[in-house]
Amino acid sequence: MNISIFDNEKLAAAALARRIAVRLKDQPRIVLGLPTGRTPVPLYRELVALHKRGEADFSRAHTFNLDEFVGVPPGQPGSYRRFMQEQLFACVNIDPSHIHFLNGMADDLDAECDRYEQEIHRAGGIDLQVLGIGTNGHIGFNEPARELIARTHRVQLLEPSRKSNASLFGGDMDRVPREALSMGMATILQAREVVLMATGKSKARCVNGVVNGGITTRVPASFLQLHPRVELLLDTPAASSLSS
Ligand code: PGA
Repeated sequence: MNISIFDNEKLAAAALARRIAVRLKDQPRIVLGLPTGRTPVPLYRELVALHKRGEADFSRAHTFNLDEFVGVPPGQPGSYRRFMQEQLFACVNIDPSHIHFLNGMADDLDAECDRYEQEIHRAGGIDLQVLGIGTNGHIGFNEPARELIARTHRVQLLEPSRKSNASLFGGDMDRVPREALSMGMATILQAREVVLMATGKSKARCVNGVVNGGITTRVPASFLQLHPRVELLLDTPAASSLSS
């Protein structure tokens, strides 16, 4: 695992945004895997700024987001689709037909998960997967459990994950969905390259577990140790528990 530590989250985001801009130039049809959450907000802000300066052309790129809530329409506040629209898609020149998303409103959610896997396959697989990490070590919505699921699947959300998403629903826990669809661990690990961003002190403990702990389903991100091309982009607080 390569680890890069930055003084603050803005510098970490700027470094990754510049790298993505270079990749967009070198490989215009790149397939990006993208996360939602608070962590990537500065990344998307930097990408939009680069795009406005003519330095990030998304016109031929494809994106696949990691996850989506079940039962929240894509245009509605709270949906990850809407989050992505506001943070990135509406602000850059991505072709809407190149935006791939799980549909949490599908009648048959299992079939929807299969469709997503096939779509990733048809796009040639994910070239660069960007990840955030939950304080409990989850990636996407692959929550700590006795067993993890390989492919895109339905998930019952754990309370910490529901709580950390409550702000998307006006802080009203009753409105936070109890179920989501998520790429599975194998879907994520099959990306050619993975960059995990973690910022803030609240991530320090799980980041240390991911880097120095054993590979365990109790810390799903620890499976990234098995991937040949993983980079951790950290700010100083998130790196503060790393034993050297
Ligand atoms: P956060 O969420 O960026 O809002 O901390 C990350 C995650 O839960 O994957």
